[in-house]
Amino acid sequence: MSAEIPASIDDTAAALLARDYVPDRQLATVVYLALKLQRPLFLEGEPGTGKTEIARTLAAMLERPLIRLQCYEGLDLAGAAYEWNYGRQMMEIRLAEREQGVSRDALAGELFSERFLTQRALLQAIDPKRDVPPVLLIDELDRADEPFEAFLLEVLADYQITIPELGTVQAKAPPIVILTSNRTREIHDAVKRRCLYHWVGFPDAKRELEILHRRVPGAGEELARQIVAFVQRLRQIDLYKLPGIAETIEWTRALMQLDALVLDPEVIQNTLGVLLKYQDDIARLQGGEATRVLEEVRAAARAG
Ligand SMILES: Nc1ncnc2c1ncn2[C@@H]1O[C@H](COP(=O)(O)OP(=O)(O)OP(=O)(O)O)[C@@H](O)[C@H]1O
Ligand SMILES: [Mg+2]
Repeated sequence: MSAEIPASIDDTAAALLARDYVPDRQLATVVYLALKLQRPLFLEGEPGTGKTEIARTLAAMLERPLIRLQCYEGLDLAGAAYEWNYGRQMMEIRLAEREQGVSRDALAGELFSERFLTQRALLQAIDPKRDVPPVLLIDELDRADEPFEAFLLEVLADYQITIPELGTVQAKAPPIVILTSNRTREIHDAVKRRCLYHWVGFPDAKRELEILHRRVPGAGEELARQIVAFVQRLRQIDLYKLPGIAETIEWTRALMQLDALVLDPEVIQNTLGVLLKYQDDIARLQGGEATRVLEEVRAAARAG
C-alpha cells in the first residue's frame, strides 16, 4: 500500500525534508494543495533547480511508482500514450485465415482489443487496473511540439484517454501529475489552467547551504559556506547560463575530490567547467573576475 498524503503544509515540508529535498514555503504549499485538491502541478523554472527531483521525491515519499514521460521534439500519441501492435495483429490475421469459421467482424473486434495495445507512459499512469495511483512526471514539456499539448488536455482534466477503436479509459483514482518546463517556449494557457503553477527559482543562500549539507554530507563547513556564497554572487553576474543547484552540488563534489578546504583563485579557475557550461561564461570569469568575486565573498564573510 502507499503512504498517506500529508495533512498540512508543515507535514508536507517535513516529509520532503525527510527525503533530503529542501523546499521553500511556497513550494511546500503548492505541493500540499496539488495533493489535496488532486490537481496536476506545473513547475517552470531555471535548469537544475529541483523540478524533476520533486517528482522523484514525491514518489518515494508516498510510496508510489514513478512513471516518467520525457518530452522531445516529435513526441506523439504513439510515443506518449499507446500504440497498436501491428506485428501481433498481422500474426493474428494469419492465424485466423487458417482457422475455419472466424467471422470478419469478430476478428476486427478482437484485433482492436487491449491484448494488442502497447501502453506508453500516459496510458500506464491511468490504467484502471492499477491498485495504487502512480506519480506521473511529464518532464520538459517545452521540448514537445505544441500540438502535443492539446492531446494532454483530456489527461490533465479528467485523467482519461479516449482511444477511438476501444473507447475511453479512465483512471480509477487520479495519479499525482507533475509537469516541468524550462520555458524555452511558453506552454499554452489551456494546459496551465488545468494545473497549479509554481515558478522554481534559485534558492537563497540559507536554503542552498542546507541542500549542500544534505546532498554532500562530507563537505567541510567552511568550504560549503564559501561555495554557496560564491555561486550566489555568480548568479548576480550577467552570464549566459547561470549555475543551478545541480552545479553547486557537482562543484562541491569536485572540490572535495581535489582536497580543497577553502576556495582559492587557482582551484576556481581549474574547475570552472563544473559550474559553467558555456565558453563565453568561462572566459568572462577567467582573468581577474573570479578573483574579484572571491574577494567579495571573503569580505562579506568577514563583515557578517
Ligand atoms: N530543493 C532541493 N533540495 C535538495 N536537492 C535539490 C533541490 N533542488 C535541486 N536539488 C538537487 O539538484 C539536482 C538537480 O535537480 P533536478 O534535476 O530536479 O533539476 P531540474 O530543475 O529538473 O533541472 P533541468 O531543468 O535541467 O531538468 C537534484 O538531483 C538534486 O540533487
Ligand atoms: Mg529536470
